[in-house]
Amino acid sequence: MNSVSSLIRERRSIRKYDSRAVGEAEVRELLEQAESLRGVPSGGRWRYVFAGSQQARDRLAAAMMESFADSKLGRLLPKKLSESFRKRTAAIPANLIVFVHKGESRETGENNFAEACCTLQTLQLLAWERELGMLWDTEPQLQKPAFQAKIGIENEETFAGILHMGYFAKVPRGRTRTRAEERWTVIGKQGGAQ
Ligand SMILES: Cc1cc2nc3c(=O)[nH]c(=O)nc-3n(C[C@H](O)[C@H](O)[C@H](O)COP(=O)(O)O)c2cc1C
Repeated sequence: MNSVSSLIRERRSIRKYDSRAVGEAEVRELLEQAESLRGVPSGGRWRYVFAGSQQARDRLAAAMMESFADSKLGRLLPKKLSESFRKRTAAIPANLIVFVHKGESRETGENNFAEACCTLQTLQLLAWERELGMLWDTEPQLQKPAFQAKIGIENEETFAGILHMGYFAKVPRGRTRTRAEERWTVIGKQGGAQ
């Protein structure tokens, strides 16, 4: 990796991991670095819950599958396939659950969320340099209150996602993105904000 720009360009979401273990200490170290690189010095409120032991991964996979089973698609899924999904999920080397404090006002809550997301993106970039890949997961089955209660969300918190992580053997191809131009308006020009 020879530059910041190539690191940003080359990082991909990783969905297939090899069997190498991902230690809690390693993830904590990366998080310390990511936190220390944030633009805003301090104040944001969010927390991380790490699921890395086999027992924790089994519990998380069971909760995810239970939530998925209670969906339209999940009800159609043959038992065998569902068991194979569960096994695959439990085999993910480590998972980082992120809960963000809602804040005392909408503004504080939104700032907390934005800061947490920036930190998670930095974490993904720092991890990429070590060939530690991640998938930021916010699938519908993770959004259900029953699932979030199981993984320990508190009243004042909102859920930012789970970062599944592991070392990877193969880098997938990138996906098509929304072009910045499609989001662009200029103040004062026709069609733009007045
Ligand atoms: C906030 C956020 C939520 C995401 N949620 C999901 C998700 O629920 N399921 C999924 O497969 N990928 C999810 N992703 C990963 C994106 O789909 C991924 O960024 C996209 O595939 C582009 O690939 P890249 O990360 O390799 O550039 C999420 C990414 C972000 C930043």
